[in-house]
Amino acid sequence: MAGRIPQHFIDELIARADIVEIIGSRVALKKAGREYKACCPFHDEKTPSFWVSPDKQFYHCFGCGAHGTALGFLMAYDRLPFPEAVEDLATRLGLSVPHEGGMAAGTGSAGAADETAPLYELLANVADFYHANLAQSARAAAYAAQRGLTPETIDRFRIGYAADSWNEVLRRFGGGVQSSRALRDCGLIIEREGSSDGYYDRFRDRLMFPIRDTRGRVIAFGGRVLGSGDPKYLNSPETVLFHKGKELYGLYETRLARRSLQRLLVVEGYMDAVRLHQAGLTYAVATLGTATTPEHLRRAFRLVSEIIFCFDGDRAGRAAAWRALQQVLPEAREGREVRFLFLPEHEDPDSLVGREGGERFEARLDTAQPLSEYLVAQLSEQADVSHADGKARFVALARPLLEKIAPGVYRELLLERVAAAVGQSAERLQQWIATPEMPAAAAPVHAPRAAERAGVAAARRRVGRGSLITQAIGLLLHFPAAAAAVEETLRLELARLELPGVAVLRELLEQQRASPVATMAQTLERWRERHEYRRLCELAAEAPLVPDGAAAGRELLSAVTRLLDQELRQRRLQSLIEKAATQALDEAEKAELQALTRGQSRVGGA
Ligand code: UTP
Ligand code: MN
Repeated sequence: MAGRIPQHFIDELIARADIVEIIGSRVALKKAGREYKACCPFHDEKTPSFWVSPDKQFYHCFGCGAHGTALGFLMAYDRLPFPEAVEDLATRLGLSVPHEGGMAAGTGSAGAADETAPLYELLANVADFYHANLAQSARAAAYAAQRGLTPETIDRFRIGYAADSWNEVLRRFGGGVQSSRALRDCGLIIEREGSSDGYYDRFRDRLMFPIRDTRGRVIAFGGRVLGSGDPKYLNSPETVLFHKGKELYGLYETRLARRSLQRLLVVEGYMDAVRLHQAGLTYAVATLGTATTPEHLRRAFRLVSEIIFCFDGDRAGRAAAWRALQQVLPEAREGREVRFLFLPEHEDPDSLVGREGGERFEARLDTAQPLSEYLVAQLSEQADVSHADGKARFVALARPLLEKIAPGVYRELLLERVAAAVGQSAERLQQWIATPEMPAAAAPVHAPRAAERAGVAAARRRVGRGSLITQAIGLLLHFPAAAAAVEETLRLELARLELPGVAVLRELLEQQRASPVATMAQTLERWRERHEYRRLCELAAEAPLVPDGAAAGRELLSAVTRLLDQELRQRRLQSLIEKAATQALDEAEKAELQALTRGQSRVGGA
């Protein structure tokens, strides 16, 4: 199966494509000023309200609200799924679509593939070498057997053994400057500090688990001590080929074993995955000693619609499960099933499947808790819903979790579960919780009563912080280059703000700095799979606040500065209010409080 299409390619595609030409070949466009208009192809109309902007590379219908990029248009008009729309557009431009994990062609990124090819080969050779060594070492073979690994499993996972030597791999594979450098780049040898004689082997006297990418290429290793020792598992460092937070150990072997894949069982350890496969559960994969990451989930959901997380029954397992839940919420949606399986205490999948066999273990999967049930059960442990305070706490805890889920059927259903748990109507809860990810307008701010008397609430409403963020985001969408107006120190300071939308603003600024785009359409394509995408498209469809890029830079800078300034003032205000609650303010403080509530003061009198 083809890998993911890299974002840089989408960027390039959108940069090269001409939306006017693409839409124009399907719909009769008429020039109108800088833009083009037509009768909307997505709804019935007599007078044109469908506009195409060559500057933004974006179309928008004021009648039915349809809008999007060139890719979006192909998807909507030709009813193509995303990858096919990409393929279609690429073919039109004479480009061939590269897929993640190499195979780049025709887009100038072939150089990278050339550089990594020898590394893949080297890793494959080293894996073969380790694998052959395992049969040679009686001690290592005995350990593997004692861990219940059969010869077939050892072959299937290409498990091996790194000899008890400081330079075995170095000697065999590192003759010459270039090859030792390659070994180092793969993480197989380590540079000696402050010494002239170079390198030593990273993996010594360990059972070796090669980590393969979905195409079966070895990209890294995990090595376990035979018996006890520290660290129990040693892993390859991050390299050009290996990104720990992305890979799922056993995914390649899973794909090999199963032509059609319905679900994945996600476990924690190498041995867990291997022994589950051996017991017939050939859809087990392991996160490599890291917590589940969004990238893991995106990869998994590209293959299956059902994921079962399996955790040990101890406290660490429960904590890991809760972290996994937080990661999975943004990926949750209708048609995707996520469940949690907890094993009895002091068991892991490896030990349990060894004792009870594959069938009994698989039967446990049917008892795994659906995400919604697990979430409600967890919250119930933290908040006792038998009294009003507990209910309020329950809802307060649920809110940030629900907000992580993209709006849609799945969120509604979960909302209903939460509502039922506190005996409320879903509508009431919805009203309170369903504030959009990014502020549509000024976000309501809850001020304490005392502050209300002091007119603080009114001051806060005037400030309208939410709308400033929205403005800034809108400016960046319409004029990506405006990002340059916000220098790094300001960008970093934004991290201090805990306001809805600020993370999106920062990411947009960061993206534009790291790899600049020229048009709105490119930015939007980068966000297509995020749940903020819908809201960004809405902002994109609105008229820009300013006419040109220079003005946008100025406005953006001003919005960001005001945001930061407001935050400082809010904090000062808060501390004065808190102080006033317990002691008398002196004259200067009273004056400052007054000025702050009028929104006219600078902080700290400076
Ligand atoms: P565990 O400590 O649960 O080990 O680590 P395990 O899988 O049960 O290992 P065995 O059965 O004793 O052989 C789970 C996973 O965490 C990572 C590894 O990926 C391991 O499989 N880990 C653990 C490390 O990376 N380093 C360590 O030192 C320990
Ligand atoms: Mn274990």
